[in-house]
Amino acid sequence: MSKKELRMHAVVSPTETVIVSAYDEERKAEACTLAFYMVSSHVPPCVTIAINASQKRKTLKAMLQSKAFVLGFPGVDQVKEADYLGVESGYHTDKLSNIGFTVSDAKNVHAPIINELRLSLECEIVHSVTVGSHMQVTGEVKRILADEDILNGKDKVVLEKLKPIIYDEEQVRYLEIGKPLADAFQMGLALKKEFSK
Ligand SMILES: Cc1cc2nc3c(=O)[nH]c(=O)nc-3n(C[C@H](O)[C@H](O)[C@H](O)COP(=O)(O)O)c2cc1C
Repeated sequence: MSKKELRMHAVVSPTETVIVSAYDEERKAEACTLAFYMVSSHVPPCVTIAINASQKRKTLKAMLQSKAFVLGFPGVDQVKEADYLGVESGYHTDKLSNIGFTVSDAKNVHAPIINELRLSLECEIVHSVTVGSHMQVTGEVKRILADEDILNGKDKVVLEKLKPIIYDEEQVRYLEIGKPLADAFQMGLALKKEFSK
């Protein structure tokens, strides 16, 4: 198969669409949708998000002031609301109340939890660095709050119940997760054993 050189752009692997929320200096809850999100540490648990550094994002401004944010995971039934939070700015309107989303104070950080989202991570900002157009902000997770109906008997989040929204930057569309493919750390271990004979 011949290969083709593509124009320079951030080729994005499918990412979970998340909603980051923070209080501004007047305690107004700000929120916006992000696709640039990753888990960045197991111990302590940390997540890193990347937000346009020009501070055109009201939510980034609020996060940097309060040094905290909440990361929420919308489900496929909330795709319209998630898309709206990604195309309108808190500089112009109260986005959350427009779509009927309500907030509660996070317990361990100064930030708003969006009650309608089924999974929320309370995060304290521990690091930020600007790379190119975006500021990468790392938050240490201080508390995890989940609706009971997305959990299994061992209090693990079940993706088929959370039904996260997958964002596809190449085709500019949202997808649902697919079928399970295989158990992880199994087939690779079998190969490892075979090759180390
Ligand atoms: C699907 C989707 C993904 C987005 N991902 C990001 C992102 O990763 N980083 C970013 O800076 N903006 C991202 N945005 C754009 C912001 O959400 C958007 O600029 C928003 O209006 C900012 O709102 P604010 O000014 O209230 O903070 C995304 C928007 C959509 C719809």
